[in-house]
Amino acid sequence: MSLVANPGRSRVPDSSSKGEVMSSSTTHAVPEKPRLTVIGTGYLGATHAVAMASLGYEVLGLDVDQAKVDRLASGDVPFFEPGLPELLREVMDSGRLRFTTSFDEAAEFGDVHFICVGTPQAHGSHAANLTYVESAFTELAARITRPALLVGKSTVPVGTAARLIGLVRAAAQDPELIDLAWNPEFLREGYAVQDTLRPDRLVFGVTTAWAEKMLRAAFAPILEVGTPLVIADLPTAELVKVAANSFLATKISYINAMAEVCEATGADVNVLASALAYDDRIGGRFLKPGLGFGGGCLPKDIRAFAHRAEELGVGQAVAFLHEVDSINNRRRRRTVDLVRELADGDLKGVRVAALGAAFKPNSDDIRDAPALDVADMLRAEGADVIVYDPQAMDNARRDYPQLTYAPTFAECVKGAQVVVLLTEWQKFRDADPEMMGELVERKAMVDGRHALDADAYRAAGWEYRALGRPAQPRTVQLVEDAKDQVMVAAT
Ligand code: UGA
Repeated sequence: MSLVANPGRSRVPDSSSKGEVMSSSTTHAVPEKPRLTVIGTGYLGATHAVAMASLGYEVLGLDVDQAKVDRLASGDVPFFEPGLPELLREVMDSGRLRFTTSFDEAAEFGDVHFICVGTPQAHGSHAANLTYVESAFTELAARITRPALLVGKSTVPVGTAARLIGLVRAAAQDPELIDLAWNPEFLREGYAVQDTLRPDRLVFGVTTAWAEKMLRAAFAPILEVGTPLVIADLPTAELVKVAANSFLATKISYINAMAEVCEATGADVNVLASALAYDDRIGGRFLKPGLGFGGGCLPKDIRAFAHRAEELGVGQAVAFLHEVDSINNRRRRRTVDLVRELADGDLKGVRVAALGAAFKPNSDDIRDAPALDVADMLRAEGADVIVYDPQAMDNARRDYPQLTYAPTFAECVKGAQVVVLLTEWQKFRDADPEMMGELVERKAMVDGRHALDADAYRAAGWEYRALGRPAQPRTVQLVEDAKDQVMVAAT
């Protein structure tokens, strides 16, 4: 692999000695502005299709779900993502973006096909379910009659691309027309548009010069503004994504492990995290303690990575990821413990206001959402839980019909004996503790996300608790001792 400072020249990695190469041909033409298709229009695919069309490309989005295609084609984004609906309508008006359910149409249209379908956790296993990826590649390959680059963007276990080469070759009418590349995606939900248009870096996993040239043409406007580009072989490109998500998950679990130690010692994990963050080598991002990570990516990606490493005989190398997962899950149970403590040890019949359902703010995604997991554990212990989320109510109602939902924030907290903040939406951060205090029956707050001003809540008469922070505020006083020395003592 060579690290290439964009826009300098690069060397296509010699993967012929390491594994499968799709095509020996490097003689196909490279269109100046390739026509793009995006297969799978979920969070990743819909955003990618809209963003590429906004950069001036002709784009055809494909999904097997007719209802999703109809909604997108009418300018309606089927999930909550700030900025995306406006951009979708803009590019639909330009005529550069269309949607279809037809693989025939996609194969006929595209020079570069981006495969963005999901790789959910398989039922009853930690492995990734690759059915949708395999089917997208082979359905396309079977129909391609002109030079085309198939580019995987989905998060897959390392080695998948090499296996797909065999499947594509077997399905293709003429394998020499097709090349395969991997281009992992690093967008965050809630920031999907900006992450797609201005990514930290692009990674191209390629085996031929033609594939690299096609990808450079497909991402020209992003590369032209100096976005760093890493050219890699296929397995490295696949690994970059799971390695990145594993690192992020590990960082979150690291600070949450420190929170557990803080709880046993009376130390304050918030102060600890801010002191650590001043060290540039550590950095403060993804060092926020609390309820931990959820969503459709981090939890399933670390499990699938550990599973794949075991298959490859290097399970021990990433065995720590099991611990990262366990620390993360313990935070959910510990949040329930804190609510129980504030309810005097018994949750039966206690009215709990659960603020948040989405796995993080600025998203309506509830996949593996810590918030809903905690709300459901509280309900299972007999609490009278009422949930409110600014955006994720429909999804939550669908997947957690056993929970009760409030139509508004105020209705949720009205009469509550304990309030628990589970997703740190700005609306909850901005709430006035005095005004909220008027609505609740008892002023007891568990801040599951370390998102609230503890002093302001305590000043307004609330009992405030957060994971990894002392139950009572510690004041640091300057004390003069008999010898006139100034020393710092914690009381
Ligand atoms: C994550 C990665 O950040 C993206 O780079 C990646 O592209 C994406 O997965 C993916 O694989 O598609 P995302 O799932 O949108 O993005 O969400 P994050 O912003 O990473 O947050 C994940 C979880 O960690 C959330 O539940 C959040 O509340 C939690 N978190 C995050 C913390 O508990 N502490 C932190 O300091 C940061």
